[in-house]
Amino acid sequence: MATLTIPNSQMAQQESSSRLIDKHGRAITDLRVSVTDRCNYKCVYCRTGNDGAQYAELPVADYLRIVRIFVDLGIEKVRLTGGEPLLRKSLPELVRELAKLRTAVDHAPLDLALTTNGHLLAGMAQPLKDAGLSRVTVSMDAVDPDIFARITRVPGSFHKVLAGIRAAQRVGLGPVKVNCVLLRGFNEDQIVPFAKFARDEGVIVRFIEFMPLEEDRLWTPATVIPVPEVLERLHTFRPIVPLQANMLSETAQRYTFDDGIGEIGIIAPVSQAFCGHCSRIRLTSDGKIRTCLFSQFDHDLYGRMRRGATDEEVAAFIRFTVEQKEARHHIGEPGFLKPSRSMVHIGG
Ligand code: 5AD
Repeated sequence: MATLTIPNSQMAQQESSSRLIDKHGRAITDLRVSVTDRCNYKCVYCRTGNDGAQYAELPVADYLRIVRIFVDLGIEKVRLTGGEPLLRKSLPELVRELAKLRTAVDHAPLDLALTTNGHLLAGMAQPLKDAGLSRVTVSMDAVDPDIFARITRVPGSFHKVLAGIRAAQRVGLGPVKVNCVLLRGFNEDQIVPFAKFARDEGVIVRFIEFMPLEEDRLWTPATVIPVPEVLERLHTFRPIVPLQANMLSETAQRYTFDDGIGEIGIIAPVSQAFCGHCSRIRLTSDGKIRTCLFSQFDHDLYGRMRRGATDEEVAAFIRFTVEQKEARHHIGEPGFLKPSRSMVHIGG
């Protein structure tokens, strides 16, 4: 894969200020860290499982060093992801160390979240809570066990994930957000059952438009379920009522029902892109900075660390890279190039 090389002289010109701001004026406050690119599922919208076990991940101490530097640069929210992050054995130790950064910085307290497929969550929820994790988001694409297994391509997976969600709610890692990627022909008939699920379980269900980030070449515009259709389907169950956005960089349009019970989010990166307010930056499991899910290049931070870069040099490289963040993605436009890596390698 191609990697940009930044001359040291250019990096040295970077001003030191307390926040990361890109050249489009967006404050970058949200870091996603992929702690492994291994996964125990083969979701149809992500990976095939035929990747020949070419995995790459860093020692936990190196993720910790990188995150500490990012937090010093004004990152306020860290989301651990993967691959499947619960496959990392020493995850609770990483969380415990990251939680210490909360008090080590003088800006807003660090928000420490995790995105997981939930398969191993029932046994991990309590240790993660004890280690200082704030919240979890669980990916779950059907409430019907057979449809779920058809999407994850792992039989019997549904009940493990359900137990994981309930354990997370019980130990105080809530409100749990449940991410459902909608795919034409797979799960559009799950929209109303998910609305009931949100109300029964007290979780926030978020429907996400399918993005062209998968290893199987499945994506076409026709596989994306349009937002009006999602709203219409919800309406057949109960009248829906919009909720106010929590913040400007919020990705989800939020709704509840006429009785105020249940929260549904709709995340529409394809039909209603929210790049203008993007506050996110990603670290891949092999230590590269990715400025957009749809970037054509990664920026090799870890390579610099391995060659002995000091914390100051790492910080300067981060500043320089963040500044170059793309204005927006171009999904669906003529000439759109699929990113060089699929979601499992980038980190969701
Ligand atoms: N399109 C949309 N969402 C995706 N996710 C993974 N791959 C895709 C895709 N191709 C979602 C998963 C996970 C989140 C991190 O990203 O549901 O919850």
